[in-house]
Amino acid sequence: MNPGTFAIGGDLTVDRIGFGAMRLARNGMDATPRDPETARAVLRRAVELGVDHIDTADFYRGPDGTVRANDLIRQALFPYPAGLVIATKVGPVFGPDGPTQGTADDIRPAVEANLEALGVDRLDLVYLRIGWRTPPQGESLRDRFEVLAAMREEGLIRHLGVSNVDEAHLSEAHGIAPVAAIQNLFDPTDAAETALADRAAGEGIAFVPFGGLGSGRGSARDEGYAAVARRHGATVAQVALAHALALSPNILAIPGTGSLAHLEENLAARSLTLTPEDLAALR
Ligand SMILES: NC(=O)c1ccc[n+]([C@@H]2O[C@H](COP(=O)([O-])OP(=O)(O)OC[C@H]3O[C@@H](n4cnc5c(N)ncnc54)[C@H](OP(=O)(O)O)[C@@H]3O)[C@@H](O)[C@H]2O)c1
Repeated sequence: MNPGTFAIGGDLTVDRIGFGAMRLARNGMDATPRDPETARAVLRRAVELGVDHIDTADFYRGPDGTVRANDLIRQALFPYPAGLVIATKVGPVFGPDGPTQGTADDIRPAVEANLEALGVDRLDLVYLRIGWRTPPQGESLRDRFEVLAAMREEGLIRHLGVSNVDEAHLSEAHGIAPVAAIQNLFDPTDAAETALADRAAGEGIAFVPFGGLGSGRGSARDEGYAAVARRHGATVAQVALAHALALSPNILAIPGTGSLAHLEENLAARSLTLTPEDLAALR
């Protein structure tokens, strides 16, 4: 059964399996660059197969910084099909040694860089990404999020999100401007993460886990996924995606790939429905 759609911010309706663009220019921080033509083919095929939610960032680049996911997206897909939602994130700043955390002063130029590279007048969804994979507890996001809120008021951004945050960050951001989406490295066995995802569900906020396929390094949950996969004639990746989507209707998957075969495999998870027994076994 198709997992259906979710309306980000109440008005940007997307299929619950989208696409993560981080793997287009290279497959991981230490990896060699990928072929841009293949990357553009993956993007075009994704849209052909119904992907209407692409997750990107200006700092998703190849090793020397010259091949950028945003450029590949524009080259492959501009003019963008109606209904395509492109979500991006700001916070980190790309330097000679890769991304480092920026300050409030870096936010406006980063939003402008995304507008320019993607060739749009308004960005659909911009996350403030703080920390690296895990929430930086106790760190205020106020100054940075206030810049984003002002740019939203100016009409340059439709919806705002936060990434790598805990509940306190969400509350702080929500006090400044509406939060439409949260993007975190989600572990369904982590009580704090589950509480955050539940709060997001209650408040109509999209919860967008990244690294749902173990970021290519495999996951501690793969053994359980493999057993369920065998029962369905599916793959571990498909079960991982179906499992995430089964947890709550506000969860959106953004599997990242630079491979046409993996793209097709991941999108085929739309037709995989896990049974109550499968879900109990994966708990
Ligand atoms: N907010 C943040 O801090 C943050 C951090 C990281 C990522 N993200 C976002 O989340 C997206 C997903 O994260 P991610 O790319 O780290 O992790 P992921 O989706 O868990 O894993 C991607 C990795 O899995 C491989 N893969 C993809 N499909 C596969 C399949 N069907 N079978 C086997 N391997 C497969 C990919 O290699 P191939 O390319 O060879 O398929 C790649 O190495 C990113 O694209 C990015 O948009 C956000």
